[in-house]
Amino acid sequence: MEASAPYTVDRYVEDLRLITRETYNEDEIIGQVTPLAQRLVADANWRDEKHYEASSEQGFGIHVLHEEPDHTLAVFAISWLPGRGAPAHDHGTWAVVVGVDGVERNIRYRRLDDRSRPDYAELEVKDGIQAGEGDAICMKTGGIHSVQNETDAVTLSLHTYGKHVNHTDRSQFDLETNEKKDFKVRVE
Ligand SMILES: [Fe+2]
Repeated sequence: MEASAPYTVDRYVEDLRLITRETYNEDEIIGQVTPLAQRLVADANWRDEKHYEASSEQGFGIHVLHEEPDHTLAVFAISWLPGRGAPAHDHGTWAVVVGVDGVERNIRYRRLDDRSRPDYAELEVKDGIQAGEGDAICMKTGGIHSVQNETDAVTLSLHTYGKHVNHTDRSQFDLETNEKKDFKVRVE
């Protein structure tokens, strides 16, 4: 293929398949996927106005760009309504998020409790970044973050997961009550 050919979702997915066939090491997977996700963001051919649609009930809108038949290698465009976000949550798989349009506040957390109770978790803030276009937030399985759109416009980001997050064992966390519970999301 010519070097000047656009980097498409199909080419990205083919690269994801090659990478995850080669290694199960999440540091290696994330290290290789991140620059490719940034390249896909830079090459805007896949973007569509409909990706900005989001449910006011949920506060964000998930648009599936790709998912393998076994739910692995899920690629989503996710839009975030102004002033809305997602509570602290994990993914049950590795995750690479790259900002596409607008700035999203990401806070990453570390877990403090001994994980002996299935419905309880104590978290503390690890770091926070304002992620704009091309900025990456990467998490291995178990990594916890929250997302907030503090701007007055809809923002958009590209999310790549080892597996579709409605098909993993993952949780959302209430920072006030320390409650840990299932986190399923609605796909547009
Ligand atoms: Fe997330």
